[in-house]
Amino acid sequence: MAEWTMDEPVGETRLDNSVQGLLGKPLDRIEGRLKVSGTAAYTLDEPVEGRLAHAYAICAPVGHGRVAGFDVEAAREMPGVIDVIVEDERIARETGGFFDGWMMQGNGVIDHYGQSLGLVVAETFEQARAAAHAVTVRTEEAEGRYDADRLAHEAEPVPADARLPDATVGDLDAGMAQGVHSVDAVYSTPSMVHAAMEPHAAIAEWKGKDLVVHTSAQLLEIARQMLADALKIDADRVRVVSRYVGGGFGGKGGIGVEGVLAAIAAERTGRPVRLAMTRRQLFHIVYRRSETRQRLRLACDASGRLTAIGQDSIVSQRPERSNFEPVALGSLALYAGANRRFTTKLLTLDLPETGPVRAPGEAVGMLGLECAMDELAEKAGIDPVEFRRINEPDRDLTRDRPFSARALIECLDEGARRFGWEKRKAKPASTREGDWLIGHGVASAIRVNLLAKASAALRIDRTGEITVESSMTDIGTGSYTILAQIAAESLGVPMDRVAVKLGDTAYPNGFGSGGSMGAASAGSAVALAAEDAVKELARRMGVPAAEMTLKDGYAIAANRRVAIADLVSDEPIEASGTIQPGTMSKTYDQAAYGGHFVEVAVNAVTGETRVRRVTSVFAAGRILNAKTARSQMIGGIIWGIGNALMEDAVTDARTGQFVNNDLAEYHVPVNADIPHLDVSFLDEEDDKTNPLKIKGIGELGISGVGAAVNNAVYNATGIRVRSFPVTLDKLI
Ligand code: MOS
Repeated sequence: MAEWTMDEPVGETRLDNSVQGLLGKPLDRIEGRLKVSGTAAYTLDEPVEGRLAHAYAICAPVGHGRVAGFDVEAAREMPGVIDVIVEDERIARETGGFFDGWMMQGNGVIDHYGQSLGLVVAETFEQARAAAHAVTVRTEEAEGRYDADRLAHEAEPVPADARLPDATVGDLDAGMAQGVHSVDAVYSTPSMVHAAMEPHAAIAEWKGKDLVVHTSAQLLEIARQMLADALKIDADRVRVVSRYVGGGFGGKGGIGVEGVLAAIAAERTGRPVRLAMTRRQLFHIVYRRSETRQRLRLACDASGRLTAIGQDSIVSQRPERSNFEPVALGSLALYAGANRRFTTKLLTLDLPETGPVRAPGEAVGMLGLECAMDELAEKAGIDPVEFRRINEPDRDLTRDRPFSARALIECLDEGARRFGWEKRKAKPASTREGDWLIGHGVASAIRVNLLAKASAALRIDRTGEITVESSMTDIGTGSYTILAQIAAESLGVPMDRVAVKLGDTAYPNGFGSGGSMGAASAGSAVALAAEDAVKELARRMGVPAAEMTLKDGYAIAANRRVAIADLVSDEPIEASGTIQPGTMSKTYDQAAYGGHFVEVAVNAVTGETRVRRVTSVFAAGRILNAKTARSQMIGGIIWGIGNALMEDAVTDARTGQFVNNDLAEYHVPVNADIPHLDVSFLDEEDDKTNPLKIKGIGELGISGVGAAVNNAVYNATGIRVRSFPVTLDKLI
């Protein structure tokens, strides 16, 4: 058992030497072939013993009010219908998110449009769906609060003990008055949804008093606990399995409604039950990203030094929930400025609850801050890269603490070089190619670095085969592959000697994927488990671990070279590791950084924006796999382009529903929208973060991209759009 708490910087480790060179290597995904050949078993593909029944959720037809009753008789008579379940008080109304670790239950109250009120179980999916639509929900509709624009003035300050409390240093108004140049502008961003490729789904099966739920989830232990709470049973009786996940983006943080409904249905019918949410249902049944309204107040002196930096935000949430979109999360420590203020006000709306969506905080916070910085740089007549250099702080000035490793300026400089930034024309609307106006924009990227408690088990069996087990998930990011790389490099064996088993609460709690901390948390646990095994191998070699080299399947020490398989042939090795966050995350401001450079072409006739070129450079600690890391950044950049130009869950302010509730109308970028993306990483190791010296990258890529696109649109057209997305109607 190896345990480590991050209370001090990490010294030299076995992985620093990387004798096999596996760490960082751009290896293909272990499970890639299974995925591209369609043989990887996602939730709905999981084989089930027994006669599977299918369920379909009944959803609220109005936005606010009460359920007066259900007319279910017609549905009960329909072909194939096994049960119509509307009277179970455990029915989950809405999905449990990351933070408010509980699910709204009972179906007498309608909190928001589309919430779940019950379900139909039938022999086939189609029969269940048809019957669910035949159920009449009688409602007493009440007036709902749906209109974020109209109600914004009613927003209330967040409590002092909020996860992201308001922060003030100096006097923002005084700083604004001191400045020679200033910007006071309101940026807004719309509601967004996760839009994962794989819709939420669950298969529930009872085995006596024990429940097994296959579902598409990011954080399995949290899912298990929420499921147990919802069903009022002991968590030990619940197993959650999620081997492959077709994208999470924050929306699969806890357990979804589908998991609870399927479990109730399986219990009632005595059969395994499969429940697939439809794309349309997902728009309302999963939490959303809050719309934001951000007042940016920035001022600088004649030489460009910030005298004031302020970001006052309004975001929304449902009445009973307290967590909120942490807009200023990345802004707090990004720039200098003696007078600083970051506040949030919370507006209560009767829309689906708000929760994490790809890079909560930075994804939207940088849209405001990085565009306002561009505005101020222009007013000061300073190149925006230079402007950021001038305002590079030497520590986190909001929380008065040092940085761990920070290479923001290096990222911007390298990005500028690769992009050819020096050729940019500072004056807007000065380049035209036929009908197309060409522009260039830049923005910084930042994503906080986090660590969660995580454990892993590692076994070396008698043949020398290694098995890693953890309830960590792979949501398309490459977890299987990087964990195998860590184990193989630590133990000096080829990759194909390592089997990685994830996505099952039967394994040690590996935290899971969320907040860009999965690789750091589960990866550190695997590295510690491997160290535990190395210690035992060294004991069997009769040498101190530090004097033993492990390479190509052999232990080498004191002129001896012994096959690892020979060291375990009599007795396998069982090892485990646990990582715990410690004081390092409070003592140091830890974040990953980047710089985005974007070229756009805006059609002078239609207002259509095409992204022509993106160069992004990141510094995010050690990189575990150059290929999967690059893929993650590409994914983030693409989402960032979507933030800039497309994504917008449009609320009908009269009825409280999202009107564009499918992927035909909720636009996300497709291949044809995306040019070649030039992505690179600077060398960095951060010994304050975790034993791997890595930083989270999952949510770094998206941060700042939309601002860089919008800044490029301004440079192309001279039109400064402050309301995202930057659609063509705003440019003509
Ligand atoms: Mo993320 S939106 O914290 O999975």
